[in-house]
Amino acid sequence: MADIKNRLEIYEQQFFQELEAVEDASMLEELRIKHLSRQGALSELMATLKELPLEEKKVAGPLMNQLKEKAQEAFKRRETQLETEKIEAEQLKSTHFDVSAYSTPKMQGSLHPYTHVIQTVEDILMSMGFEIAEGPEVEDEYYNFEALNIPADHPARDMQDTFWLTLPGLLMRTHTSSVEIHTMLKKKPPIAIAVLGRAYRNEATDASHDFMFMQLEGLLVDKNISLANLFATMKTFLQTFFEQKDLQIRLRPSYFPFVEPGVEIDMSCPFCTTGCSTCKKTRWIEICGAGLVHPNVLKACVLDADTYSGFAFGFGLTRLVMLKYGITDIRLLHSNKIEFLQQF
Ligand code: FA5
Repeated sequence: MADIKNRLEIYEQQFFQELEAVEDASMLEELRIKHLSRQGALSELMATLKELPLEEKKVAGPLMNQLKEKAQEAFKRRETQLETEKIEAEQLKSTHFDVSAYSTPKMQGSLHPYTHVIQTVEDILMSMGFEIAEGPEVEDEYYNFEALNIPADHPARDMQDTFWLTLPGLLMRTHTSSVEIHTMLKKKPPIAIAVLGRAYRNEATDASHDFMFMQLEGLLVDKNISLANLFATMKTFLQTFFEQKDLQIRLRPSYFPFVEPGVEIDMSCPFCTTGCSTCKKTRWIEICGAGLVHPNVLKACVLDADTYSGFAFGFGLTRLVMLKYGITDIRLLHSNKIEFLQQF
């Protein structure tokens, strides 16, 4: 008799220990299967009742039933407790949800319009056989002026207001044409280079002029280069850049000391057919200066002017960017205003 009582006590202890260790619904279900299911430990224990002698059965039977009830009630209580805890945890989550909480918006970067245009221009000119060249922005006056046929007393120096540095003879380059000289002094023809870089002018700022802007320079030197080559190159470049197969160009005489003859190139307005504000209702837009490289420039670069000839052109790259994107004020390009830059 003592033996069965002992076994029931040990079992009860073990059951309650395990029930106490239950932390969630899945552990509780495991416990139910292990102890309270049909094949569970409690059923097994109760099945031993029939093996007991009658006298013991009379005592052990009610004890077993009590234990079963106790275990089932405790199980139910733990089940309800776990459900309540779960609901409370969810409520806690939703009561602590602050709909007005501020999270920093994620800013996505974009390419500067200059970068878009630089990549496009480089792609086009490289596909036409030009190499991309670079040169210093702090320049010696020899490369910026003298070698370009603009001696110290030449009135053309006044055309480009210059930022002189305190060191004698040094300046911020006023145009990318200085890279023509560096290149021709280093390489022998055939030469075909494009320069995309900054230029500086000591000028008052307005919607179309800044003290710092970008230029696009082109130089091609070889035997038998003529204005016809310049014309074809410019037309192909502009047609590709503005994505207009029927874009036309025209040349007008102009003057730059480093080319002879010098020309201004106009293109037919890519934005209208009848006249608009961009072309000032003329249907033509003045787009760049150009010409055939002056023999004095070739000589300054130790190239035989009887053997070689070349063409050069110089765009305001900033102007190309403004035209491409319809930007009406140059200062926006250098302002770093997020609202402006986000549009590209
Ligand atoms: C020159 O700078 C010549 N070196 C171009 C050239 C190269 C001619 C090769 C012939 C052969 P110009 O001073 O016109 O030329 O300047 C070229 C372009 O730079 C202008 O058409 C204009 O678009 C741009 N530019 C000039 N000054 C400014 C400025 N202050 N702000 C913005 N763009 C400017």
